[in-house]
Amino acid sequence: MKSFLQYLAAVAIIIGLLQFVPTYEKTNPPVDRAKEIKAPQDVMAIFKRSCYDCHSNETHWPWYANVAPMSWAVRRDVIEGRKALNFSTWYDYDEAKRKELRKQIYRSVAIAMPLPQYLWLHPDAKLSQKDKQRIRDWASNGKGFDDIEVR
Ligand code: HEC
Repeated sequence: MKSFLQYLAAVAIIIGLLQFVPTYEKTNPPVDRAKEIKAPQDVMAIFKRSCYDCHSNETHWPWYANVAPMSWAVRRDVIEGRKALNFSTWYDYDEAKRKELRKQIYRSVAIAMPLPQYLWLHPDAKLSQKDKQRIRDWASNGKGFDDIEVR
């Protein structure tokens, strides 16, 4: 019994120490609505439900974003997600970049996005086949992309 309590104490101390490891800051930079993506309401609803936590400046930070080691993964996903695609600053991208991002969005909804570890804790964010189709239609103006196979 004693060794079990010692073990618990050691784990508690280690978790306590992890809290001091520096990590990314948890930010929500101010949103300028003029720069935010404009899309039909149903498309926006999907983006807001399934993508905005990592691809906008309006992240709903969960409580575990404050607790190491979970916080490291959550914050990294948001920082890296915003870097790859930020719907809050969509019109800061030039036209060519927006076009490229649309194509990546089209591709990403097949399997990669939202990230599986996010869906595990946010099952509502899962895209239905209908949601995927809607996003693809929006991203490609209903035309699809010849070089991307749809799954
Ligand atoms: C849990 C956080 C998270 C969620 C939710 C999320 N993404 Fe991402 N996304 C990332 C991260 C991190 C990257 C950058 C690294 C990478 O490519 O895996 C990324 C990259 C991307 C990229 C860049 C190119 C690519 O395919 O790698 C696109 C496009 C994208 N996401 C679209 C979406 C869409 C659309 C949604 C909603 C349906 C979404 N993401 C939901 C975290 C997320």
